[in-house]
Amino acid sequence: MAQIRITGNPNLRLEGKVRISGAKNAVLPAIAASLLTREKLRLKNVPLVKDVYTILTLMKEMGAEYSIRRNSITLQSRDILHEEASYELVRAMRASILVLGPLLARRGKAIVALPGGCAIGSRPIDLHIHGLEKMGATISLQHGYIQAEAKKLRGTEIRFEKKTVGGTENLLMAAALAEGETVLKNCSLEPEVINLCDLLKKMGARIEGIGQETIRVMGVAELGGATHEIIPDRIEAGTFLVAGALTGGNIVLTKTQPKHLTSIIDKLRLSGADISLINSQTIRIRGSENIRPQDITTSPYPGFPTDMQAQFSVLMTQARGTSIITETIFDRRFSHINELLRLGANIDVSGDKAVVKGKTPLSGAEVLATDLRASASLVLAGLIASGETVINDAEHLERGYEGMEEKMQALGAIIELSH
Ligand code: UD1
Repeated sequence: MAQIRITGNPNLRLEGKVRISGAKNAVLPAIAASLLTREKLRLKNVPLVKDVYTILTLMKEMGAEYSIRRNSITLQSRDILHEEASYELVRAMRASILVLGPLLARRGKAIVALPGGCAIGSRPIDLHIHGLEKMGATISLQHGYIQAEAKKLRGTEIRFEKKTVGGTENLLMAAALAEGETVLKNCSLEPEVINLCDLLKKMGARIEGIGQETIRVMGVAELGGATHEIIPDRIEAGTFLVAGALTGGNIVLTKTQPKHLTSIIDKLRLSGADISLINSQTIRIRGSENIRPQDITTSPYPGFPTDMQAQFSVLMTQARGTSIITETIFDRRFSHINELLRLGANIDVSGDKAVVKGKTPLSGAEVLATDLRASASLVLAGLIASGETVINDAEHLERGYEGMEEKMQALGAIIELSH
């Protein structure tokens, strides 16, 4: 069991430079895309986090070969030997579902465990399945596994009833090798979706409308190899920005993409932080002594990301006044709140809203990490709590943050991770 120990300090000011890693949520679909071609894919700026190792294990089980050198991965799925994603791997990482579209498109067959309940509320995959069925796949559920078959997927028009990042990605990959044109409507606009489209284009896919809600994909018979750079992780960047705001610190973030951070930067500025763009990849944040309360409502990109909700809630415990946090993407994504209460926060949850009353001093305690972003929020809270905070089940943090404890240490935090 991984554990994080933080010696907190209400007067801590984080200072220094932090280099932002590649985006976990962009690299996972990029790795799955290698199933679409026999040729080599070279991915650069890959964050070496646990979810990446999980999907690489899955790829290996299916017959892919890969090598890792620093933060680059070379990956080749010459032959797909096994079209199955086991429950063990899907349970460890829901994003394993991203192999469904590519497997079906290239091999005509896929067997993928149905992800079960998840710590952040029910996360169905009905929209992935309906889309693939519309493209001609026969899909059934047997013994907890999705069994999908299609001699050849056919292009058609699919409108997502609701925006889904993974659904958009799965269907884009399926459409790239389908027969004829697929028109996807109400697509997610997240930068990670655009990054996948750019990769697919380099591999030879014919895609129009990248970055828009309607994307047209003209299927091709084969895709080839490519070299591709993963975009910077906007959630990691957002987490360090909140760390700067929370500690009245002075942090410079390098290798980031400021334009992906607009909704986060806007809210931080309204809360009193001074944020300046040093150049196209570098941002400085100077936190304020006086944090102002802010209401936030999560929504699909370009709105405020659900993956930053927990971290922002911690910042609001230190604002003078009341903030209302509304979570519209996932049900029950407030598991971090119970843990923040143990540290002394004053937060009431009712339905999809959390009402945070500040400013409350936090005091260190033993807490439990329940999911990836919840863990990040507990680290932030632990930094400014007096005394020691121990975060149990901290492996969640390692799923998505590359070297978080070292990066925090370099900024002046006293934090240790042990296994
Ligand atoms: C991705 C991100 C995750 C982020 C989320 C929302 C990855 C690997 N993960 O998750 O970090 O929090 O986007 O920005 O990129 N839904 C359905 N039916 C479906 C699919 C989704 O009802 O078939 C619902 C979900 O339950 C949720 C909403 O749609 O309420 C958005 O989910 P989705 O965008 O699909 O999230 P993920 O792709 O799983």
